[in-house]
Amino acid sequence: MQQLRSWQSAGLTHLPRRALDVELPSAVDTAAAPVLAAATESTPIAPAFTAAPAPPSPAPQTSDDDMPAAGQPLSLEQRQRKLARLAKQVAACTRCRELAATRTQTVFGVGNPEARVMFIGEAPGADEDAQGEPFIGRAGQLLTKIIAACGWTREEIYICNILRCRPPENRNPTDEEAANCREWLDGQIATVNPEYIVCWGSVAAKNMLGSDETIGKLRRQWFEYGRAKVLCTYHPSYLLRNPAAKKPVWDDMLMLLDEMGVEPPRR
Ligand code: URA
Repeated sequence: MQQLRSWQSAGLTHLPRRALDVELPSAVDTAAAPVLAAATESTPIAPAFTAAPAPPSPAPQTSDDDMPAAGQPLSLEQRQRKLARLAKQVAACTRCRELAATRTQTVFGVGNPEARVMFIGEAPGADEDAQGEPFIGRAGQLLTKIIAACGWTREEIYICNILRCRPPENRNPTDEEAANCREWLDGQIATVNPEYIVCWGSVAAKNMLGSDETIGKLRRQWFEYGRAKVLCTYHPSYLLRNPAAKKPVWDDMLMLLDEMGVEPPRR
């Protein structure tokens, strides 16, 4: 953990790892979600997923290393440094007394600091709290299948949550906790500057859009958050309990891919 933390402070945001070797949850095998069921390790990676590389960035022209030169987006290294700094601040955060006292560690976020798409969930669960990475438990494994079905890997997109600490017993985040954590979330959004944000579940949707509508009402529409186009869909945990919702989620992913101009992988 120490080694990983020191790499993280140095700006490393992910390590290559073996393709997930998990069984498709049986529900994914249903005819209701044929495309999710078709997700395999060999699913091709959609080309042009990462923002087209900017022309080689000139050396920063300001005294602040993390300020973009006029008219230039932040470089990869600047984003890595900003995220590493934020992660360090998050690790020391005690704004939510109960969460700070009960967490094993904070769960900041993972993925590509230059991702076109950011996925936002609710809060870490027990597995995430133990391992320090978002979406790696059962719901996370299903999310990883969905990502693969889209033709991507987890490392190509950016994944984080409304909260960076696990609420005890996996209760819903309170409004106060979400407000306390908002500075970190907004810091991640401002740094990655995604073109698209997907809100997974009603907690993410409520906090990003300020709406108490159900996901059933919010999905299939584009919203805006800064420059990002925002789409809402059902949380993967909901899919584990309600496999029939996999089809609508896949339809939402197709809507996202279409808007991004990315061809869905062939089945
Ligand atoms: N559920 C979430 O919303 N986020 C996680 O990181 C894990 C489960």
